Amino acid sequence: MHDGSGRIVVQNLGKQFGPVNAVQNLSFTVEPGSVTGFLGPNGAGKTTTLRMLLGLVTPTTGTATINGRPHDQLGNPARVVGSVLENEGFHPSRTARNHLRVYAAAIGVPDQRADEVLGLVGLGAAADRKAGGFSLGMRQRLALATALLGNPQVLVLDEPTNGLDPEGILWLRNFLRGYAQQGRTVLVSSHLLNEVEQTIDQVVIISQGMTRYYGSLDQLRKSQQSRVLVQPADAAGLAKALQENGITQVSPTPDGRVAVGGSSVQQIGDLAAKAGIAVYGMQEETADLERMFFQLTQGQYAGAPAYGQAPPPGYGAPQQQVPQAPPGYGPPPGYAPQGPPPGQQGAPPQQQQQPQQQNEGWGGPR
Ligand SMILES: Nc1ncnc2c1ncn2[C@@H]1O[C@H](COP(=O)(O)OP(=O)(O)O)[C@@H](O)[C@H]1O
Ligand SMILES: [Mg+2]
Repeated sequence: MHDGSGRIVVQNLGKQFGPVNAVQNLSFTVEPGSVTGFLGPNGAGKTTTLRMLLGLVTPTTGTATINGRPHDQLGNPARVVGSVLENEGFHPSRTARNHLRVYAAAIGVPDQRADEVLGLVGLGAAADRKAGGFSLGMRQRLALATALLGNPQVLVLDEPTNGLDPEGILWLRNFLRGYAQQGRTVLVSSHLLNEVEQTIDQVVIISQGMTRYYGSLDQLRKSQQSRVLVQPADAAGLAKALQENGITQVSPTPDGRVAVGGSSVQQIGDLAAKAGIAVYGMQEETADLERMFFQLTQGQYAGAPAYGQAPPPGYGAPQQQVPQAPPGYGPPPGYAPQGPPPGQQGAPPQQQQQPQQQNEGWGGPR
């Protein structure tokens, strides 16, 4: 039997579809009592990983277990893990209640559980409506209700915020946090950090099927550094003066400014004055998690602009590389991203617009 821990363990997991390495040597652990975000751009391998965890795809390498067991050895898996994957279908002419009763019967829970879970997801008043007439937001809620039927210890949701309006996202956030606070395990995937940032405590960031970061979101936040953008009369002269005074995180920006990490506005101003270099402006840029996420996952597509454009000749520290988590467990010890890459030449993180598919949104039934 399974160990009842509520722990998800992914170890050296890999999946190859013909020539496509969808997932490569992925390892991470998800503990109960918190919400873990599973983040990466589209095509990074999130769905494939979750499908392997749920026993729907056979891994090429490695293992994915819940409570110490692969999904097919969980006994009555719906009692252990509830999941919502992409494109969950509903019989359009079946009411919400009847849909749930069919699933309840299949996993051996009493009929009344259908009404309980409808209440949990705020669909109580829509119990007798046909699922075919539901908005996207309502369908998401119904899918979640289905996942909750077995009162599972572990909840796995693939891109649950897709298509939700802000109110729906807020509702989901509170729901998932409450669920985790009961000591349960919640794993949610997303390609948009900002949609889940306030929901998650732990994060696994993947790109191109590989782990880029694995740890607490707080630690990732703390590891970021702010930087100062300086507009001097003589960029090369300022860079040299700063470097001579031990400030090494100096790099040019495309607009002719100098980006300085690990220093303060005052310190930079003093050194510039000492070197006799006029400064026309300074701007302090605070850490930005979204930028960090973009750095960690960039390069997914061959056509994406890279940060590593050659610096103008003649000055500056070598281009910093984005540190990568080694394959295997955990963030590397002392993992400290080196601040933003020079110049910010890359495209900003894509704020992908969700299609405005529903007007009634998540606001529940009308
Ligand atoms: N059944 C499949 N057959 C072939 N390639 C697949 C299949 N499923 C996923 N892929 C490929 O695997 C990669 C990862 O896909 P996916 O796991 O869906 O990523 P994500 O969920 O992060 O967007 C993509 O390149 C995708 O095209
Ligand atoms: Mg996906």
